[in-house]
Amino acid sequence: MTAPVARGARTNLGLLALLAAAFLTGWLAFAFAAAPARWSLVVHATSGVALIALLPWKSMIARRGMRRAQPGRWASILFGVLVVVSLAAGFLHSTGIAISIGPLSAMDFHVGAAIAAVPLAIWHVAARRVRIRPADLSRRAALRGGAVVAGAAAAYALSEVVVRAGNLPGASRRFTGSYEAGSNDPDLLPVSSWMFDAIPEVDATTWRLRTPARTWTYDELSSFDDRVTATLDCTGGFYSTQEWSGVRLDRILKDAHGASIRVVSHTGYDRRFDLSSVNRLLLATRVGGRPLDPGHGFPVRLVAPDHRGFWWVKWVAAIEVDEVPHWFQSPFPLQ
Ligand code: HEM
Ligand code: HEM
Repeated sequence: MTAPVARGARTNLGLLALLAAAFLTGWLAFAFAAAPARWSLVVHATSGVALIALLPWKSMIARRGMRRAQPGRWASILFGVLVVVSLAAGFLHSTGIAISIGPLSAMDFHVGAAIAAVPLAIWHVAARRVRIRPADLSRRAALRGGAVVAGAAAAYALSEVVVRAGNLPGASRRFTGSYEAGSNDPDLLPVSSWMFDAIPEVDATTWRLRTPARTWTYDELSSFDDRVTATLDCTGGFYSTQEWSGVRLDRILKDAHGASIRVVSHTGYDRRFDLSSVNRLLLATRVGGRPLDPGHGFPVRLVAPDHRGFWWVKWVAAIEVDEVPHWFQSPFPLQ
């Protein structure tokens, strides 16, 4: 057994490293709403393009595998289809050729297909064992790998130039990859949720906000007029800058002691923040001077500037303060 087998192992290992890099940097970009998200996405896109560069080699391996007709090969094909769907949706989004596909966004397809591919990827790697030889990890192999990644980075840079020169919609993306939607016009602000939250019907006359010291009525909270202009940047792929008004959290949590606050929605959805950040958080009753509508969090929602949209808890029902550190939570909500 000589060169072709060894090359197959290197290709498969390369694919594994690139898939892992793309997956991790995708989530890293979702975790931040600040400029470093861009660097994560540069690595992300480069990994994606490098995956495509390896496809000619992988197709030789796959053809050989298919000839062997091993059990489970259809699962490998399904895995391949999901990776292709994820890649295609990523490019549709980034170029702006199609930001939404039917009722879903290109980002929904992109991330959804990638998540669905994870169990198949684990199975594929476990069921199709790669035998690693010293030659696979040699200096020459590393140089080749480096050349593939450098080529992919150059191809990605070129694609960004083409998007701008061709004036494709993708040229207007923010550093998170999101597109502007309805800024300063609340009627055009899209309605979106992290995963499964359905819009609840809340009766403002009986609704109360619970804080450690007391409860608040909707009218009491509406009488505050703290304002902030902040950008909601949704992981679904859009951003929108609006003027939000309501009450700064430090005003209603005056004497609270503890390590963190837990902002809980009527739906059970929650996010934790460091107690020291409450003067930068707003509990909004209005957007653009008008009461929120149910889709945007009526009666009150959190406005968390410089945090991705999934931190902006809607339909807030309670704010708790306790000794749990703010980082002691799943980095992404599970509901
Ligand atoms: C199989 C795994 C994945 C692959 C191969 C992949 C690959 C890609 C590619 C090729 C692009 C287009 C890049 C461009 O031309 O600008 C892209 C965009 C993007 N991906 Fe992924 N991706 C994967 C998973 C994920 C995951 C799990 C997330 C988030 C949790 C994610 C978030 C993003 C974002 C936010 C963009 C938009 C970047 C922009 O427009 O600048 N990706 N991805
Ligand atoms: C983009 C990611 C990948 C796709 C789309 C993919 C797809 C496929 C397909 C369709 C086959 C042929 C059917 C089969 O034998 O089940 C195959 C075979 C195989 N794959 Fe992958 N694969 C990917 C990544 C990997 C990775 C990361 C590894 C290991 C680290 C790997 C190892 C193998 C091996 C060893 C075979 C069998 C080759 C043979 O029997 O001669 N693949 N792959």
